[in-house]
Amino acid sequence: MCGIVGYTGKELALTPVLEGLRRLEYRGYDSAGIALAVNAGEKLWIEKRAGKLGNLEEILGDSVPKSHSGIGHTRWATHGGPTDENAHPHLDNEGKLALIHNGIIENYIELRAELEKRGHVFKSETDTESVAHLLSDARKSHKGDLAAAMREVCKQLRGSFTLLAIHSDEPGRIVGARRNSPLVVGVGDGENFLASDVSAFISHTKRALELGQDEIADITADSIVITDLSGKVLPHNEYEISWDASAAERGGYEHFMLKEIFEQPKAIADTLLGRITGLDGEVTKGINLDGIDKVVIVACGTAYNAGLVGKYAIEKWANISVDVELASEYRYREPAVDSKTLLVPISQSGETMDTLMAMRYAKEHGARVFAVCNTNGSTIPRESDAVLYTHAGPEIAVASTKAFETQLVAMYLLALHLGRVRGTIDKKLMVQIEAELAELPAKVEQVLETVEPLRALTRKFKDSTSMLFLGRHVGFPVALEGALKLKELAYMHAEGFAGGELKHGPIALIDEGTPVIAIMPAEGSLLAEKMASNIQEVKARGAVIIAIADAPLASADHLVRIPKTHEFLAAVLAVVPLQVIAYEMAVARGNDVDQPRNLAKSVTVE
Ligand code: M6R
Repeated sequence: MCGIVGYTGKELALTPVLEGLRRLEYRGYDSAGIALAVNAGEKLWIEKRAGKLGNLEEILGDSVPKSHSGIGHTRWATHGGPTDENAHPHLDNEGKLALIHNGIIENYIELRAELEKRGHVFKSETDTESVAHLLSDARKSHKGDLAAAMREVCKQLRGSFTLLAIHSDEPGRIVGARRNSPLVVGVGDGENFLASDVSAFISHTKRALELGQDEIADITADSIVITDLSGKVLPHNEYEISWDASAAERGGYEHFMLKEIFEQPKAIADTLLGRITGLDGEVTKGINLDGIDKVVIVACGTAYNAGLVGKYAIEKWANISVDVELASEYRYREPAVDSKTLLVPISQSGETMDTLMAMRYAKEHGARVFAVCNTNGSTIPRESDAVLYTHAGPEIAVASTKAFETQLVAMYLLALHLGRVRGTIDKKLMVQIEAELAELPAKVEQVLETVEPLRALTRKFKDSTSMLFLGRHVGFPVALEGALKLKELAYMHAEGFAGGELKHGPIALIDEGTPVIAIMPAEGSLLAEKMASNIQEVKARGAVIIAIADAPLASADHLVRIPKTHEFLAAVLAVVPLQVIAYEMAVARGNDVDQPRNLAKSVTVE
């Protein structure tokens, strides 16, 4: 939810810390702050401001001291509003220790009461500040050893956290910790980094270290020591980051979201590469699918919508029952799950707390876990038996686009795999789907070539108060995804419905001029006829129909043509115009496309 970066090394720290914050701002943009260690023993230099990083940058004049180590934070507010006081870093009473945090400290109220009794004075309403004071005391009792203090403090904390701390007595040292929240080490030459994700330091180094649960990283410019909470030194697990800095830049596009929409053909092709006719042994070796009698997909938001499409494909091709569950609901209703359950968490970030917790619940009850994830080394794949990585590359815009497309592709690949393993998929059908999958990147490209008129059309509905999305079969989850995109970007009432459900209530929403986006099933199919009737029903009540279809449609007021493909795969093509509508609507309404209000990219709190 928050972005965290720490730098220690040969450069002046302000530049890499600010650059890291710029790259991490998608994680939260309620406030931003920086603390720098200057001279041993002196107070730390600190500046923080409510609002976006730009607010902080505006006040950073020439007075920023020359320092070679520092930490920076960009916040998505949970405890305490988005004010200057609540912005991170938080200091101890002496102004010599600074701390930044991502996550939630669940026992902060009792910690704060205890610390206040001991004379600590609090300046913010955050849960984080308690940890700064606690760490300050612990450091004193550990004779100035910040890492030992961090280990002791972590044992006292409940909740989820990534923490980074510096102390002015040791200007080149940064200590970090993580529990249920991401933290990676960037390994440089004469410089090292700690950050929420690798994008923060990708222009400096492509070498990174994963940190496990309850691990402490203690870094200086020339050393990295990782320990567990008992102080035992742990081996480094270094890996090479496979994408470069340009992937995290806008590359001439006005917004990251637009760039990511246009990157979809490549992202799909990369995800399909070498997998169409069978999943690599590397992917499947950790999991035994014998005796599975149920598949449960857990996910949130857009990933959940991808899971719904997965259900259609897996049930049909692998002839096995599939439940798709909102992760936040699943874990608290104590569902029946056992060793015959295949649990499939889907997550772009691999850090979504609800999905992670749902997965852990199922694992504890014996489920086998096959994750679909876009982020190498993140917590969900690390804790899964097998992982099918999507290769969407970094997705920076808060609204998910290319990650969704690649999640759909991963669902098809998984469904085919299960169909093959279980011997349930007809050979001829399999060959047909494999051929259609291979053509998807080019067909998405074709859709993208025709979006300009759609952008102009979207602007005509700029002042609408509501937009409805109708679909059937895989078009239904696509309708849900279209509505989610519009809500999050245009701040407009939007809902997705299954075409057949209309007359059971939602049709009452239709009024003169209500825009309705109809996602048409394949031409000539039974469902296309049913959908055509649904369109007549809403048209008769005044709706304006924008149809997404693979054939002409006389009843449509506006038509967006997409290429023909297999009926299950059509979701990949039909969603593209909906992404463009949401994007254009946000632009037309003057909204912040890449950082919509109230949202953050990774939801690492419940
Ligand atoms: O990282 P995840 O895929 O687990 O994230 C799940 C949702 O938070 C995410 O898809 C969210 O709904 C997107 N902002 C939607 O565009």
